[in-house]
Amino acid sequence: MDHKLSFLNTLLCLLFLSPNLVFSQLDFKFYDSTCPNLTKIVQSGVWSAIANDTRIAASLLRLHFHDCFVNGCDASLLLDDTSGFKGEKNAAPNKNSARGFEVIDTIKSKVEEACPSTVSCTDIITLVSRAAVYFSGGPYWPVPLGRRDGTTASEDAANKQLPSPFEPLENITAKFTAKGLDLKDVVVLSGAHTIGFAQCFTFKTRLFNFDDSGKPDPTLDTSRLQNLQSVCPNQADSDTNLVPFDPVTSAKFDNIYYKTLVNNSGLLQSDQVLMGDNRTASMVLSYSKFPFLFNNDFGASMVKMANLGVLTGSNGEIRKNCRVVNKK
Ligand code: HEM
Ligand SMILES: *[C@@H]1O[C@H](CO)[C@@H](O)[C@H](O)[C@H]1NC(C)=O
Ligand SMILES: *[C@@H]1O[C@H](CO)[C@@H](O)[C@H](O)[C@H]1NC(C)=O
Ligand SMILES: *[C@@H]1O[C@H](CO)[C@@H](O)[C@H](O)[C@H]1NC(C)=O
Ligand SMILES: *[C@@H]1O[C@H](CO)[C@@H](O)[C@H](O)[C@H]1NC(C)=O
Ligand SMILES: *[C@@H]1O[C@H](CO)[C@@H](O)[C@H](O)[C@H]1NC(C)=O
Repeated sequence: MDHKLSFLNTLLCLLFLSPNLVFSQLDFKFYDSTCPNLTKIVQSGVWSAIANDTRIAASLLRLHFHDCFVNGCDASLLLDDTSGFKGEKNAAPNKNSARGFEVIDTIKSKVEEACPSTVSCTDIITLVSRAAVYFSGGPYWPVPLGRRDGTTASEDAANKQLPSPFEPLENITAKFTAKGLDLKDVVVLSGAHTIGFAQCFTFKTRLFNFDDSGKPDPTLDTSRLQNLQSVCPNQADSDTNLVPFDPVTSAKFDNIYYKTLVNNSGLLQSDQVLMGDNRTASMVLSYSKFPFLFNNDFGASMVKMANLGVLTGSNGEIRKNCRVVNKK
C-alpha cells in the first residue's frame, strides 16, 4: 500500500511538477513561438537609440546591472514612484544618473504591438543590454529568456546593495559575493566602464584633497589628473560635468579600460583599486593584453548577472507598461 502510494506520488510529480520545473527554468527558445520577432524589435530599437545618442549604449547596459543587483533581475528599477510607492529611481546610485528609461518604453511598446502581454520588461532589459554591448563593438552571447517582472521595488535595497565608487574593493567584492558572483566577475563586469561617462562628483575626492591629505590621489597618473582637474575644477558647480571612463574610445566596447588601469589612469577610485590587489591586478593585466579573453569572459559574467534572483513560471507577472505594476 505504502509502496503503491509513493509510486502514485512519483507519477503525480512527474506529471504535474516536472513540466513546472522545466517551465521554471530560463530557456534560449522561450519566445521563439510566442514572439518570434522579439530580438529584431529590440535590436532595431537599440540601434536607433544609439544613432541618436551614442552614450545611450552605456546607460542601457548600466540599467541592467542596477536592476539585477537589487533583489534580482525583475525590472524593479523601471517602476516609477507614485504617491503610495517609492521605487528605485530616486535611490542615491540612480537619481540624476540612471538614464535610458524612455528607450525601454519605446521598445516595450513595439514589443507589445507585436506580441501583447507576452514578453517581460526584465527580458527586454536583458536583450537591450546585450544589443548595446554588441552595437558598441563588443561581444555577443546567447541569452536564456523567460524572466518575469516583479511587483515591488525597494529604494532602500538599491541604496544598500548597489556598489559605491567610494567603497574599498573588499566591500564591493562583498556585494558581489552576496549575489553569488565572485572576484573575477567584479573585474570582468567592471570592464563595462569601457563605455560611458561619470559625473565629476563620483571621483572628485581623488583630485584635490584625497583622504584629507591636501593633495590628489597619489596613485593617479599626473597627465590624467591634470585633464580631470580641468574638466572638474574644485568648485561645486562642476559636480555634474561628464568625463569618459575610457578617454580614448568612450563609445567603443573594447579592453582599453583595463589599459587605463594598468597605467594608473582609471577614473573612479573603485576602478583603480582593481590594480591595488594582486589577485585582481593580474586579471586586469591579462584583460589589458587579451581583448578576446575579455570579450569571452564578459559574456559569461553577463549571463551570470542576468540570472540573479529571476522570477519564472507563475511568479511575478508580464508587465504591460514597464513603469507600473499591472492593475489587478
Ligand atoms: C564594481 C562596482 C561599480 C561601481 C562602484 C560603479 C559605479 C559607477 C559610477 C559612479 C558611475 C557614474 C555614474 C554617474 O556619474 O552618473 C558608473 C557608470 C557606469 N557604470 Fe558602473 N559601477 C560599477 C560596476 C558596473 C557594472 C557591473 C556595470 C555593468 C555591467 C557598470 C556599467 C556602467 C556603465 C556602462 C556606466 C556609464 C553609464 C552612462 O554613461 O550613462 N558598472 N558606474
Ligand atoms: C516579423 O517581422 C516581419 C518583418 O520583419 C513580418 O513580416 C512578420 O509578420 C513578423 N512576424 C510576426 C509574428 O510578428
Ligand atoms: C535623443 O537623445 C536625446 C539625449 O539622450 C534625448 O533627450 C532624446 O529624447 C532622444 N530622441 C529620440 C528621438 O530618441
Ligand atoms: C565597508 O564595509 C564595512 C563592513 O560592512 C563598513 O563598516 C564600512 O563602513 C564600509 N566602508 C565604506 C567606505 O563603505
Ligand atoms: C594610458 O593608457 C591609455 C590607453 O591605452 C592611453 O591613451 C594613455 O595615453 C596612457 N597614459 C599614459 C600616461 O601612458
Ligand atoms: C601580493 O603582493 C604582496 C606584496 O605586495 C605579497 O606580499 C603577497 O605575497 C602577494 N600575494 C599573492 C597571493 O601573490
